[in-house]
Amino acid sequence: MSSTTHYSDLGLVNTRDMFKNAMEGRYAVPAYNFNNMEQLQGIIIGCVESRSPVILQVSGSARKYANQTFLKYMARGAVEMASELGADIPIALHLDHGDSFELAQSCIDSGFSSVMLDGSHHPFKENAQLTRQVVEYAHARDVTVEGELGVLAGIEDEVSHDVSHFTQPEEVKDFLEKTGVDSLAISIGTSHGAYKFKVKPGEEVPPLRFDILDEIAKKTPGFPIVLHGASTVVPEYVAMINRYGGKMENAVGNPEDQLRKAAGSAVCKINIDSDGRLAVTAVIRKIFAENPSEFDPRKYLGPAREELIKMVIHKNENVLGSAGKA
Ligand code: G3H
Ligand code: 13P
Ligand code: ZN
Repeated sequence: MSSTTHYSDLGLVNTRDMFKNAMEGRYAVPAYNFNNMEQLQGIIIGCVESRSPVILQVSGSARKYANQTFLKYMARGAVEMASELGADIPIALHLDHGDSFELAQSCIDSGFSSVMLDGSHHPFKENAQLTRQVVEYAHARDVTVEGELGVLAGIEDEVSHDVSHFTQPEEVKDFLEKTGVDSLAISIGTSHGAYKFKVKPGEEVPPLRFDILDEIAKKTPGFPIVLHGASTVVPEYVAMINRYGGKMENAVGNPEDQLRKAAGSAVCKINIDSDGRLAVTAVIRKIFAENPSEFDPRKYLGPAREELIKMVIHKNENVLGSAGKA
């Protein structure tokens, strides 16, 4: 393979048809983050078994961790493995939260089929300019681009989010016209990480701002919306982690019914990272606690991969509605 690789040579697809089908079918395509082989295999096996399209998602730091050249072959391996397992599901490789033109360019040149330029921390004009620059480079190579408007609350933020963090619906159309993005991440009350809401035991988490989502969808009918920070922070995994020596107090995420509702709307892509981390950590903690003499990585990474497969199938079937769509 040459030093510049087009994603089609890896057997990957961009997100255009995925989102078109998701919009028409009223479901969301899962975007699972991964950093290593077991996570990637877990995602692929789970999506093959549930016949779901999938977006394999890599942050800038995950790309550094896995090594950019190695990653290219991992993606190729994922495509080949899906095929061998009997289902040529659509697979995209996507840069998550890209923060510069150079990073997006480097990903595109090494086989990514989709990139996000997250300029949400910049003022509107700079965000639009930077995103536009990425769109021009990407579209010339048939790579799709996700932009972001509005800031997702950080894990330290209060439950009652500052309203200025939410996406302003009146800015959306202008942003889409100025940038030419293929999808847009918005802020309607989700946040990254395992500590999404500060609620007392038994208290409900505040509902997502579906009113903002509806207003955006009305202004830009048929345009694919992306939901970041969409882990449910699976309570069973948190309990397991705490039972076996971990300390994750007050870890709480989005209720499944909220995400299911979002998946049936203009939301075509749902991002999940934290839940995958929790599944792996919970299983490994349990095995280490129960078998302190174990030191064969296959004996704890293997079961962690099995748990990931179960988690992916559950989400595709019950939360995203993407099962059976590939
Ligand atoms: O939204 C960010 C993702 O969860 C990736 O996180 O930069 O730790 O890989 P990371
Ligand atoms: P979570 O932390 O809720 O899994 O969100 C992941 C994400 O948005 C990746 O971009
Ligand atoms: Zn995110």
